[in-house]
Amino acid sequence: MPGRLRGKVAIVTGAGGGIGRAVCLAFADEGAALVCSDINRESAGETAAQVRSRGGRAVAIVGDLAREQTASELVAAARAEFGGLTIVVNSAVRDARYLPVTELPLAEWQATIDANLTGPFLLLKHAIPVMIAGGGGSIVLIASQLARAPKPGRAWYASQKGALLSLAKALAVDHAAQNIRANTLSPGPTADQRFLGQWPSEAEAHRNAATLFGRLGTPAEMAAGAVFLASDESSFMTGTDLLIDGGYTTV
Ligand SMILES: NC(=O)c1ccc[n+]([C@@H]2O[C@H](COP(=O)([O-])OP(=O)(O)OC[C@H]3O[C@@H](n4cnc5c(N)ncnc54)[C@H](O)[C@@H]3O)[C@@H](O)[C@H]2O)c1
Repeated sequence: MPGRLRGKVAIVTGAGGGIGRAVCLAFADEGAALVCSDINRESAGETAAQVRSRGGRAVAIVGDLAREQTASELVAAARAEFGGLTIVVNSAVRDARYLPVTELPLAEWQATIDANLTGPFLLLKHAIPVMIAGGGGSIVLIASQLARAPKPGRAWYASQKGALLSLAKALAVDHAAQNIRANTLSPGPTADQRFLGQWPSEAEAHRNAATLFGRLGTPAEMAAGAVFLASDESSFMTGTDLLIDGGYTTV
């Protein structure tokens, strides 16, 4: 059913990453124009190039989400290149070492807060007025199954992802009257470089996935959820979480 995002303009952060790139490609296949944002110039450019090579419209904008200037540049690009903004997907994540709070240096904690929580705040601060001016839209914050079921050494990650669940609810409350919906999408373990890189082999990564299917999810399976949340098919959903985790959190 292509065309579910026809006429929509999306900013996708972390667009050079495994899930962010899959979201960009799925959005383009459904007709959206893309502002592909990443701190990594090469990977952001590659995602935009892949969108264009399959007939979609995309620009790559490089910048650190922790800086307000990046937020204003992303929104300005959506307006200048595509005439407005209807969808924001925050998929970027800055990682820290896997350490308990007793061992994690403040600087690492703060750097992840800046990118993973202040980053979406700054982006939405600039994006929402433009979305309102265009009649509304959909915000999708990529959280994680670990917000519900933390693993050792991930206090920084689980707490920041949990904050995104609350942020989406608060945004939903503040902006429903302006026809803006806000939800989180919580992936389970997903077979992309970020996850696979933590294991000696791909087979071992799948074996340790801790899902009910004995395998990792795919970036495309996460992107399918993002398309649903971004499109009018989810028009009665706001302030909630779409958990796509292969049953990870049932056990
Ligand atoms: N892969 C998984 O198993 C998994 C599971 C649960 C949740 N998630 C979440 O899904 C999202 C996407 O994960 P992924 O697997 O695609 O990760 P990834 O590492 O492949 O992609 C993340 C991207 O964010 C970019 N980035 C990092 N810091 C940035 C900054 N300060 N400014 C701008 N861009 C920055 C990186 O360059 C990278 O391209 C993340 O929010 C992650 O927490 C992933």
